[in-house]
Amino acid sequence: MQPPGPTTDPATEDSRGQRWRMIGGSANNAQLADAGAAWWHDAVIYECHLPSFRDGNGDGIGDLDGLVASLDYLGSTLGIDAIWTGPFYRSPLLDQGFDVSDYTDVEPTFGTLDTFDRLICEAHARGLRIIIDYIPNHTSDQHPWFVESRSSLMNPKRHWYVWRDPAPGGGVPNNWMSEAGGSVWEWDDQTGQYYLHSHLKEQPDLNWRTADVRTTMLDVLRFWLGRGADGIRIDVAHMLMKDPGFRDNPSAPEGNDNMFDLQHPDFGIQLHIHDRRHPDTHEVLAQIRAVVDEYPGTVTIAEIEAMPWEDWARYYGSAMDGMHLPFPFRLLETPWRADLLRFELEALYESMPDGGWPTIALGNHDRVRLATRLGAAQARVAAVMLLTLAATPCLLYGDELGLIEQAVPIARQRDYFARATGGVTRDPTRTPMPWNGGPNAGFSTAGESDLWLPVAHNADDVNVDVQLTNPASFLSMYRDLLRLRTASSALRRGKIAFLPGTSSRDSVLAYLRTSPIDQKIVALNLVDAPTAVRVPSAGTVAISTTARGAGETVGPVLRLAANEAVVIDVPKELRHEDH
Ligand code: GLC
Ligand code: CA
Repeated sequence: MQPPGPTTDPATEDSRGQRWRMIGGSANNAQLADAGAAWWHDAVIYECHLPSFRDGNGDGIGDLDGLVASLDYLGSTLGIDAIWTGPFYRSPLLDQGFDVSDYTDVEPTFGTLDTFDRLICEAHARGLRIIIDYIPNHTSDQHPWFVESRSSLMNPKRHWYVWRDPAPGGGVPNNWMSEAGGSVWEWDDQTGQYYLHSHLKEQPDLNWRTADVRTTMLDVLRFWLGRGADGIRIDVAHMLMKDPGFRDNPSAPEGNDNMFDLQHPDFGIQLHIHDRRHPDTHEVLAQIRAVVDEYPGTVTIAEIEAMPWEDWARYYGSAMDGMHLPFPFRLLETPWRADLLRFELEALYESMPDGGWPTIALGNHDRVRLATRLGAAQARVAAVMLLTLAATPCLLYGDELGLIEQAVPIARQRDYFARATGGVTRDPTRTPMPWNGGPNAGFSTAGESDLWLPVAHNADDVNVDVQLTNPASFLSMYRDLLRLRTASSALRRGKIAFLPGTSSRDSVLAYLRTSPIDQKIVALNLVDAPTAVRVPSAGTVAISTTARGAGETVGPVLRLAANEAVVIDVPKELRHEDH
């Protein structure tokens, strides 16, 4: 089907749009030579949110058994390579398990150590990798270490946490505000000091300046990597070291609210420069990396907040001895506009150190669902972007179905950040995975009122089974894209070059991916109107998000339908080497 004509004819535009702009950065220099590549360079990671994924024992809460039962879907049906599990350690579950009360045991709600071992075994048997959460910044207040620490000023574990006297005139030691709202300081009557919690007051921060904390927490890593985990996702890795002088944060004159983050409004009243990201953080991360390197082939993913790209790049380590994959939240927080996305992506690649390789995510369990933020049609375009950049994609569970946010009544909310301190709830993003049209969308056999969170209201239409039978569904498109990526060395490992924009009103983001034997053009129309763009070569359509069939010859004037993204295969004789 030929879309309606463009509003301006690109044939009459100047030729600026015709050459790909090569950018620096090692995604291009190294081009992932086969010899140097690790499994995670090629992998697509799937973020599973355990309590919401699949309930294996009928109590209404997703668990490790449910994840094991989903491996065939994830591996052979969908086609991802690695699963980031979400936390499953012993926990009071006030923060979905990011409040840990025992780092080396499994929360009974989720299973046992044996279930974990079975998960590793069954995943590896299918060629799937398991990436677990490592939550080093804070424990639960129910952790025996904290119970000891708060028991007396003289307790040997006192300095495992961050305790401070009141300010000279009384009151909290400084002005730092918590991610969950309110001060980071909580008064402890028994010992007459405050303890620091960057999140809930039930999540006291560990003191990584105490040597025993480091040794013990590094052993936690050895425990899980020794049991077969293939990597770790480090929770709030940028927060591990704070200003040792506890200086006040400056206030944010115009407010510092992040429209893309579901943070408590209190958090935005100051610039968070002293309560996190102290330069010593990099030394700790290098220590973590050194332990991970004791287990060859394992990967470190660092959750770090959005920051300037040159700061982000430091998380790779000064000698590439830091994180393998620092999370690029800045991209997740970029408005969905061709010029802005191009700018950020070019800056990302420019800033990446030699030997570095990025990971890309467009959805996350702490953010608004992609299909809610962008709408269904652009969420399909986003899928093409996610799976065709020079990066390891990280896909949030349910995004492959175009799952949208589901309002959750207060009585059913689980996210204590919102319930305790009146912040914004993240529960609507985290509702159960809809598997089929049966009761509770196949998520659980429990009664509806016992479910961890309610199932999406449109789960009869948006579920795995129904989408598998429809070649035009989200899931079919994701499967096609994943297969295309697997089969294409250019998409997996090739260099990347961007088509320069011609104006801020451009609706198209286009880039070229090139390996020695393969070349693909990716063009994304980010608006709901047809358009056209001149690309340097013609080719044949490999995938389109609209009804356009594969195999159609297109270009060099490429006409795109409203909300259409295409991947174009460039035949050998037409390949461009001028970038
Ligand atoms: C990370 C997690 C988030 C959690 C917080 C505290 O940002 O992604 O879900 O609430 O850390 O552990
Ligand atoms: Ca369960």
